[in-house]
Amino acid sequence: MLEQKILTLKTQALEEIKKATNEKEAVVLKVKYLGRKSELNEILKGLKDLSPEEKRKIGHLANTVKDEIIDELIKTEKLITSKNFDWDGEKIDISVPGRRIKVGHLHILSKIQREIEDIFTGMGFEIADGPEVETEFYNFDALNIPANHPARDKWDTFWVKSGDRIALRPHTSPVQIRYMEKHQPPFGIIAPGKCFRCEATDMKHEHTFYQFEALMVGEDINVGNFKYIGEQFFSQFFKKDIKVRLRPSFFPFTEPSFEFDISCTVCGGKGCRTCKNAGWLEIGGAGMVNQEVFVASGYKRNAYQGFAWGFGLERLAMMKYKIDDIRLFHSGDLRFIKQF
Ligand code: DAH
Repeated sequence: MLEQKILTLKTQALEEIKKATNEKEAVVLKVKYLGRKSELNEILKGLKDLSPEEKRKIGHLANTVKDEIIDELIKTEKLITSKNFDWDGEKIDISVPGRRIKVGHLHILSKIQREIEDIFTGMGFEIADGPEVETEFYNFDALNIPANHPARDKWDTFWVKSGDRIALRPHTSPVQIRYMEKHQPPFGIIAPGKCFRCEATDMKHEHTFYQFEALMVGEDINVGNFKYIGEQFFSQFFKKDIKVRLRPSFFPFTEPSFEFDISCTVCGGKGCRTCKNAGWLEIGGAGMVNQEVFVASGYKRNAYQGFAWGFGLERLAMMKYKIDDIRLFHSGDLRFIKQF
């Protein structure tokens, strides 16, 4: 009789527990079948009134059933908790490895620009900035390149359709004027930034590119200072001793003007494939600021002297990282970008 009762209780309990779908139901069933007032507990409490033989038999059975009910409850509780990870009916497998978050990084040109800024601020220079969409006055006239002067052809750019003669700046030199209008010498600045030219593109030419202008002005800034600063900068940039060579050139905004060369970064000047056996690499234009430029900026004629240059950022990056096509920089090709 008692035996049968226990077995029926077991079947009923296991069946009900299996059907539980949430924690609350599981707790109710736990109380119902294992609680102080549960039938099973009553039976266990009554064992003392049974004969020794029955006591052993019934006691054993009741305790086994109790264990089975406990096991079933644990199983069901586990299932219920794991089901809490259900989302839209889809089971989430928490053992699947996470998806790696892709972290971007600075473009190679931004990195080069920051490197250059670090070197120059380390030498006491300031960083100056100016607009990319610039007026004819700053782009040309103030730089001693009057309208109809043939030198303008060199800086053929994109004009904005308006009556105000506004164009995308073809070089960073306009920043010289904007800075000098607001500051008095002595000072040293660099002005890195984007430039544009109406240009047929090839491996060395791009319609959109970066330059960094340098300008140092004082009462006695001379070509010797210029060469020294140039050597310091390039030696730090390429992390090796670099020599500087100046060759005569022409720019309307400098007098005298120079082409600026550095000793070959590969062979050091002995001659190799990179420098085509010349021992020197061409960097860009430079010179001593033309007095006309000082006057256009509001300074008195012959009160100051200084040097300036405008170098291509891509060109320096190409030399440093042996990149052979300037068009790669703005191509948006991740195979290129991810290399740096
Ligand atoms: N602005 C010139 C260019 O883009 C480069 C240049 C030459 C800048 C001589 C200078 C300079 O400041 O002194 O071609």
